[in-house]
Amino acid sequence: MTRLDYITSLLSEYNSVCDVGTDHGFVPIKAVKDYNISKAYALDINEGPLDNAKKNIIDEGLDDKIECILSDGLKDFCYHADAIVIAGMGGILIKTILKESLSKAKEAKALILCPNKEEPLLREFLVNNGFIIASEHILFDRGHYYEIIKAIPGDMEYNDLDILYGPFLRKEKSKEFIDKWNIKLSQLLKAYDKCNNLDKKNDILNKINAIKEIL
Ligand SMILES: C[S@@+](CC[C@H](N)C(=O)[O-])C[C@H]1O[C@@H](n2cnc3c(N)ncnc32)[C@H](O)[C@@H]1O
Repeated sequence: MTRLDYITSLLSEYNSVCDVGTDHGFVPIKAVKDYNISKAYALDINEGPLDNAKKNIIDEGLDDKIECILSDGLKDFCYHADAIVIAGMGGILIKTILKESLSKAKEAKALILCPNKEEPLLREFLVNNGFIIASEHILFDRGHYYEIIKAIPGDMEYNDLDILYGPFLRKEKSKEFIDKWNIKLSQLLKAYDKCNNLDKKNDILNKINAIKEIL
């Protein structure tokens, strides 16, 4: 299953969805077409991508069910959505979007988040700001490993390993998880061999040992 197909499949239990950074509009279109979502909102900060989404939505005849909104994050989103999707951006940007509209984010039943990097920073933000990581999945799509995080309002206990590797991912140890961290491990081993600075070498060695422990 592709990243966007998987993300959209998580929406089946909701009635309304808001996709932040929609670009092509794939998620809201598929959510309405295949998962019976009755109302979807396609948000983007840039007019170009939003025009793309609008065109695709009209081509599918779904403009009565999907509303396009020009918005920086959730700032100009004035409706309710059961689920908020933010995918295809770095974890720091996703964190900023959530931080700037925290009360709106908490009104949703679930956040479906798919950072393309900086996953630990996003997880740390979520658990320190009143969210539970309710489920996680890792998949390989078009040459990249993606972690998909479903967060819901609430409080959870966590430790450093949960933040770094994901509370569910690190326990499930799926093939994709093992492959991702083996690749990271071999990169670090090469960096360790090449490095001449003692402090940096120690830092790399700590990372190597941490990964070996989780694998
Ligand atoms: C790489 S695309 C990802 C598209 C789609 N969500 C996906 O996962 O394939 C990132 C999109 O996010 C939009 N974007 C970036 N920053 C944003 C922000 N602060 N608020 C809303 N959209 C943003 C960009 O304009 C772009 O269309």
